[in-house]
Amino acid sequence: MSDQPAMAISATNITKSFKDTHVLKGINLAIPAGKVFALLGPNGAGKTTMVRILATLLRADGGEAKVGGFNVATQADEVRGVIGLTGQFAAVDEKLTGRENLEVIGQLYHISAADAKRRAQELLERFELTDAATRAVKKYSGGMRRRLDLAASLIVTPPILFLDEPTTGLDPNSRNAVWAMIGELVKEGTTILLTTQYLEEADQLADTVAVIDHGVVIAEGTPDELKDQAGRERLEVVVETDQDFTRAVAVVGSQSSAKDATTRTLQFPVEQGVHQLRAILDQFDEAHINVKSIATHRPTLDDVFLKLTGHQAEVEHAEDKKEKKK
Ligand SMILES: Nc1ncnc2c1ncn2[C@@H]1O[C@H](COP(=O)(O)OP(=O)(O)OP(=O)(O)O)[C@@H](O)[C@H]1O
Ligand SMILES: [Mg+2]
Repeated sequence: MSDQPAMAISATNITKSFKDTHVLKGINLAIPAGKVFALLGPNGAGKTTMVRILATLLRADGGEAKVGGFNVATQADEVRGVIGLTGQFAAVDEKLTGRENLEVIGQLYHISAADAKRRAQELLERFELTDAATRAVKKYSGGMRRRLDLAASLIVTPPILFLDEPTTGLDPNSRNAVWAMIGELVKEGTTILLTTQYLEEADQLADTVAVIDHGVVIAEGTPDELKDQAGRERLEVVVETDQDFTRAVAVVGSQSSAKDATTRTLQFPVEQGVHQLRAILDQFDEAHINVKSIATHRPTLDDVFLKLTGHQAEVEHAEDKKEKKK
């Protein structure tokens, strides 16, 4: 017996193209059982495509992936028996009410009608859908559908759960409900692969994060390791006038990590905490530079990208594509 932890999900050199668009260019993943793994990346990075391959909804062109020990290409039925999936696009029945949708799913999973009812009620409360429970889903707002879709994937908790952008478009309350839910599932031993565009979310939830850009993993590590790479926190100082900006650049420009003359903003890394912060602001004072606003910022996906790739996380636009060809 090996003392390596069992991998709930593993992928080796997964590739996928749509016509001549190479969406995945060799993805490797190893996710131990009972852990939360986040695929972090901007629009069009290939997150959903990867999840769909692992969930047997899409066939890879090359490489091999196993989920729960089963090969996604040759043992799709077995894989489907151990996974749950919440898609980016809700897969609920428009004509049924929220409550009916949840109860029907319970029946599909062969749990007793009483258990399905009880679980449906629990989840409706959890996701603040009790008021809307008897309304047809076609009358739901986007956020309500999203919450219902999540609830649907939690009727029975599978050993392995895929959550594709579980909180995109949710208000802070619902987002917190989802985060709490994920925490509980993990306590029960569920392995979770989630995708997100938010570093903060990956930080909150994931043991390990893989940053994916244009179909390749460009960094992998714990959220702390990624934040260390991106610079933990930064101070942003906006000054009043153009003259203030020129003076600020002369006095403290060498310490700043970024400057923007149009917005009259200077940024400073503040990894060393409050003393460093005060030292920077003192220099503004001493040089009589008029400060308009001061704010601290935690790193975002954009910061991680900027550090890792030298460019901002790009949404797929025709213009971006031209840029990249340079
Ligand atoms: N069925 C398809 N046919 C053609 N191109 C596709 C198809 N599915 C995805 N793509 C393309 O593959 C790329 C990756 O898409 P994917 O949906 O995996 O990205 P994503 O990381 O999930 O993005 P988002 O954050 O917007 O959900 C995009 O350029 C997309 O246009
Ligand atoms: Mg997606």
